[in-house]
Amino acid sequence: MHPTLAIEPSVFYFGTPIALLTTAKPGDATANITPISSAWALDDTYVLGLSNLGQAIHNLRRHGELVINLPDAGLSESIERIAKTTGAAEVPLAKRDQYGYEPDKWTLGGFTPRPSETVTPPRIAECPVQLEARVDAMTPLDEAGNATIVHAKVLRTHVHHALALPGTSHVDVDAWKPIYYTFRHYFSQGERVGVNFRAEH
Ligand SMILES: Cc1cc2nc3c(=O)[nH]c(=O)nc-3n(C[C@H](O)[C@H](O)[C@H](O)COP(=O)(O)O)c2cc1C
Repeated sequence: MHPTLAIEPSVFYFGTPIALLTTAKPGDATANITPISSAWALDDTYVLGLSNLGQAIHNLRRHGELVINLPDAGLSESIERIAKTTGAAEVPLAKRDQYGYEPDKWTLGGFTPRPSETVTPPRIAECPVQLEARVDAMTPLDEAGNATIVHAKVLRTHVHHALALPGTSHVDVDAWKPIYYTFRHYFSQGERVGVNFRAEH
């Protein structure tokens, strides 16, 4: 019927929406921007998977505030422009052959900072969804110490006017076009194929 084949993929990036984290660099006026795809939400908590080599986890350990900015499909080129960079002035050895230090990913990616209301790091104006959040907990992903699971509580949610259904807190699912990271390719969302019995609009 459906014969299968055992494969050994090097990553399990079957497709998750991208988030751009803004975090504050200690002692630096310019916030850092970190593209991630290991992110999901339950209730008002976002769970993020962050490499311990990155500047984002470094910043969050010192200052547990962030903005989880959700880009749409139109921002793929901006994301890719900052993809080969790190906000870590001393680029970790394991990344040096592919990544370079970039103190201002805003200019490089064509992003505009907008002040947040409840946290220090700014929001990214171009992202249609911007979630101000605070770190609640951190746990190691594995014994090797390669990555950290960050629990972030959402404090305030901003959406572009075009996404808001008037008079409600609902997001217009026809207007929202998230961008997915699937095996290191960028995809936009396809057609709606159904609706859950609990959908409210
Ligand atoms: C689309 C995309 C998704 C990524 N997903 C993650 C992720 O989930 N977790 C992570 O630690 N790094 C992820 N990365 C890699 C980081 O963005 C990269 O290591 C970057 O240098 C980190 O920046 P920073 O050191 O300034 O925080 C992703 C990169 C891209 C382009």
